[in-house]
Amino acid sequence: MTSFSLAGVVGRPIAHSRSPRLHRHWIARHGITGDYVALEVAERDLGEVLRVLPRAGFRGVNVTIPHKLAALELADEATDRARRVGAANLLVLEDGRILADNTDGEGFMGSLRQGAPGWDPVTGPATVLGAGGAARAVIVALLDAGVPEVILTNRTPEKAEALREEFGGRIRVVEWVQAGNAVEEGTLVVNTTSLGMVGKPELRVPLDGLRPEQVVTDLVYAPLETRLLREARAAGATVVDGLGMLLHQAVPAFERWFGVKPEVDEALRAAVLA
Ligand code: ATR
Repeated sequence: MTSFSLAGVVGRPIAHSRSPRLHRHWIARHGITGDYVALEVAERDLGEVLRVLPRAGFRGVNVTIPHKLAALELADEATDRARRVGAANLLVLEDGRILADNTDGEGFMGSLRQGAPGWDPVTGPATVLGAGGAARAVIVALLDAGVPEVILTNRTPEKAEALREEFGGRIRVVEWVQAGNAVEEGTLVVNTTSLGMVGKPELRVPLDGLRPEQVVTDLVYAPLETRLLREARAAGATVVDGLGMLLHQAVPAFERWFGVKPEVDEALRAAVLA
C-alpha cells in the first residue's frame, strides 16, 4: 500500500460538492498524508474509472448523483443496508475488489442524536415528506431505530405506496393534500423532498400544526434554515438542520479509508460552510 492515501467523490456535476472541504478538514486535523478530491465522471465511464483508481492510491470514494444506483450494481460486494436502500454512497476499494455501503441512514441518525439527544425513536410516529432516493435511506434508518410508525406522504402517491409494500406494515401512507395533518402527528418530522432548496420551489404544506414537543429536520442544507425549520423554531420545536446529515454520513467513510474516527464539531461545520 502506498503511504499517500487518496479518497474522493465521484459524481456529475461535482464542482459544488462540499465533501472535499469536509474530508480535507479531517485530513489536516489528523495529520494524514493524503488528499480527497472531486472527480467528475460520466455514467458510461464509471466502471472503468473505479477499477483503475486503486492503482493511483485511492482507498475508496463517495458516490453521488447520478451514480448511486450504478455503483451498487457495479460492486463486487454490498452491505445489507446498501442493498435495502438500493443505492451506495460509499465504496471501499480493497484487494482489487469494490465494496459498496450506504452511510446516509447512519448519518441521518447521527445528526439527530447530536442535534436532538432527547428524541427517542420508540415513543411515537415519525412523519416523512417525500418518497425518493433520500427518503429510502431515512425510512430504513427509522425502521431500524424502532419507530412504531412512519407516516409517509408524497406528491406522487404511487411512490409512497411502493415503499409501503417494500418495507412493510409500519408505514402508513397519507395523501399529499393531508401533509399538514401528517406534520402535526409526528414526534419527528423530516423533509426529504428537494422543496425549499435554493433554486427549487418552496415547501408549501401547512405548518400551523407544529408543536414544541416535536423534533423537525430537513435534508435540504442550502439554505441552512428552510421555511420548515424557521416555522418549527418559531413553534418552539427542536430543530436539526440538514448539514448534520452530510457531516455525519462522512464519519464512517473517513474511518474506513484513513483508520481514524473523526469528530463532527463546530470547527468542521465552519470549514464546510466557509
Ligand atoms: P432524492 O434522491 O433527493 O430523494 P428524488 O428521488 O428525485 O431525489 O426525489 C425527490 C422528492 O422530492 C420526491 O419525493 C418528489 O416527489 P415526487 O415523487 O412526486 O416526484 C419530491 N418533489 C420534488 N419536486 C416536488 C414538487 N414540486 N412538489 C412536491 N414534491 C416534490
